[in-house]
Amino acid sequence: MPKYHKIDRAVKGMLCCPLCKSSMTAAEDQFACAACGTVFPKRKGVFDFRISHPEYCRPNGMAKWSQIQNEFEEGEKRKKRKRRKKILTFLDAIDSARKMYAEEFDIRGSVLDVGGFQGRSRGYFSSSDVPLYVSVDPFLESFEGIDSQPELLQAYPCLAQPCNFLACYAEALPFRSKTFDWVNMLSVHDHFCDPYQAMIEAYRVLKDNGHVLIGLAVTGGESNMEAGRKEQPVYVSPIVQKVLRLLKNLGMIKAAKYELKVYSAKPLDDGHMCRWQYEDLLDLCKRTNFAVTKEHWLKPPYGACVYIVGEKQPLDS
Ligand SMILES: C[S@@+](CC[C@H](N)C(=O)[O-])C[C@H]1O[C@@H](n2cnc3c(N)ncnc32)[C@H](O)[C@@H]1O
Ligand SMILES: [Zn+2]
Repeated sequence: MPKYHKIDRAVKGMLCCPLCKSSMTAAEDQFACAACGTVFPKRKGVFDFRISHPEYCRPNGMAKWSQIQNEFEEGEKRKKRKRRKKILTFLDAIDSARKMYAEEFDIRGSVLDVGGFQGRSRGYFSSSDVPLYVSVDPFLESFEGIDSQPELLQAYPCLAQPCNFLACYAEALPFRSKTFDWVNMLSVHDHFCDPYQAMIEAYRVLKDNGHVLIGLAVTGGESNMEAGRKEQPVYVSPIVQKVLRLLKNLGMIKAAKYELKVYSAKPLDDGHMCRWQYEDLLDLCKRTNFAVTKEHWLKPPYGACVYIVGEKQPLDS
């Protein structure tokens, strides 16, 4: 079976403890930090630098995060089984993303893709511009089942090459300070448990004057997404509505449940930790010492997505 992920020697040399940032000792199947006494084993063939709190002392917010992350991972596994061909309907979108990266952003050097999943973004860079690319994501099984999805490999040919990958949280990166030229954060701020901490970590691992590229669906700014918008309720004709009401009055539970679905719309932030406002994203960049040097809005139907480049600013001494 082809190998879809790896961890190069050069990447191993960049690692440090995700908790206390000390050097770790490496073995075939684990990394260990003597300074804080934490061990990070290999699980399912992937080095796992996630902080695994015992259930009874999980930080606040982690329970909601786990539930949403679990939904995301289960969704991806279902896609793998059921909706394989759907990916081919996105070929144009993938192509325009590639063009946008080439035309709008000058990404060169080493790239850390935080929440990078299978490292699909590496298809947007040439290996001469980006000689080192690492994807990190808490989804340990990101690469499982690629073999059974030829359509996915067709849409993202870069997946056929093994990707530098390890499991960790954006909020606790296992990389030494000032290591990367770019941090890529695509559709992840609405998934993070603590986006503020994640941006502080992005700042830390970037070299001086390094850059963060954020891509995110937001409200506000030039976005076409309304704040507080709900999902469309299911539309049914007035006659069907009448019949439903009649059946419900006759005590048919199934009809009552369907009627509930028709009239209740779920908030749009389902499956996300939160929805972001453009102004808050700018403020987050400023507070974490990034100067925004570029902003690019996508056209409809992706008109809610903004891309922001932030340059790491040194602290005034
Ligand atoms: C919508 S997907 C985006 C994946 C990829 N960046 C892309 O654009 O194709 C969100 C990703 O964020 C990851 N994620 C969720 N919480 C995270 C965290 N705390 N740290 C790092 N990644 C996280 C998920 O596992 C998932 O792969
Ligand atoms: Zn440590």
